[in-house]
Amino acid sequence: MRALTVTPLKPGSVEVSEVEPPVAGEGELLVDGVAVGVCGTDREIARGDYGEAPPGEERLVLGHESLGRVREAPPGSGFAPGDLVVGVVRRPDPVPCGACARGEFDMCRNGRFTERGIKGVHGYGAQRWTVEADYAVGIDPELERVGVLLEPATVVAKAWEHIERIGGRSWFEPRRLLVTGAGPIGLLAALLGTQRGLDVHVLDRVGAGAKPGLVAGLGAAYHTAPVSEVTARTRPDVVIEATGAPDVVLNVVADNARAGIVCLTGVSSGGPRTGVDAGALNRGIVLENDVVFGSVNANLRHYGLAALALARADRSWLERMITRRLPLDRALEAFEPDGDEVKTVIDL
Ligand code: BGC
Repeated sequence: MRALTVTPLKPGSVEVSEVEPPVAGEGELLVDGVAVGVCGTDREIARGDYGEAPPGEERLVLGHESLGRVREAPPGSGFAPGDLVVGVVRRPDPVPCGACARGEFDMCRNGRFTERGIKGVHGYGAQRWTVEADYAVGIDPELERVGVLLEPATVVAKAWEHIERIGGRSWFEPRRLLVTGAGPIGLLAALLGTQRGLDVHVLDRVGAGAKPGLVAGLGAAYHTAPVSEVTARTRPDVVIEATGAPDVVLNVVADNARAGIVCLTGVSSGGPRTGVDAGALNRGIVLENDVVFGSVNANLRHYGLAALALARADRSWLERMITRRLPLDRALEAFEPDGDEVKTVIDL
């Protein structure tokens, strides 16, 4: 069978290779890969900046935004051949830390977690894969075309859950949401914002292509003006930052509503130092009771929340988020950004 593989930390080593088909262990499902989404993390791994092969192996099967169809399921697993499933990305650390011991592996404290297709375990970018039944999530057959969006949706479902828990420390009735970055994470964050009845604003650099129409399709406002103008105009109660661009991050942290909550989801690649008035920044955060926090990954509870959010969303809007579908033999094209793409998916 064929799989998308890479030698981690070796730039340009991604290829479609012949690999041995996996054998399902006890309690595992054997799954035919349907599709895999490609995100910024996959591109970072392809550039040689990130990623780790399983112990003792040189190559890593890529892919953590999965969708597959069950081929074999052990009795009593709750799954049957033909079911559509998505595999969970992270596994708890072996110690386990207090968070992992409680199923909150997305909040792992010792960093020894593993992640399928990213850190220490093979991913789902293969024509066949296995997954522990406890880490498989069933997908409604009607969501087949967009099921690959579940994993990025879990990341924003977690972000929203944490925003609401932080907000719950005091009276919390947010009205305005600003999302910075109209990539898949930003758009899904905006979708969940509209599902909460918020006045949603999305900021991005590009003024053309699929993004403005997708934002309009949510009934949200699209902005391409400088971030300082947009924050001054909107004064958001909640910001979900999904660019990782230093100037955008600084602006949204400095300029939001009183008791504003800023959730950072974009991973920046360190860059030139910028002069920041840290004192003024601190003063603003303290005197307004603001909260700035980072959010990554998701646990099983968030997979459930994300599945509900996708089920409630307009199916054709979700389909329009997938701007490029490539067959496996053209998979390498997915690692070259494609103009105003939103989400690229590889059909397996
Ligand atoms: C994935 C997360 C993962 C993170 C860091 C993201 O692309 O969606 O599940 O935790 O990368 O490895």
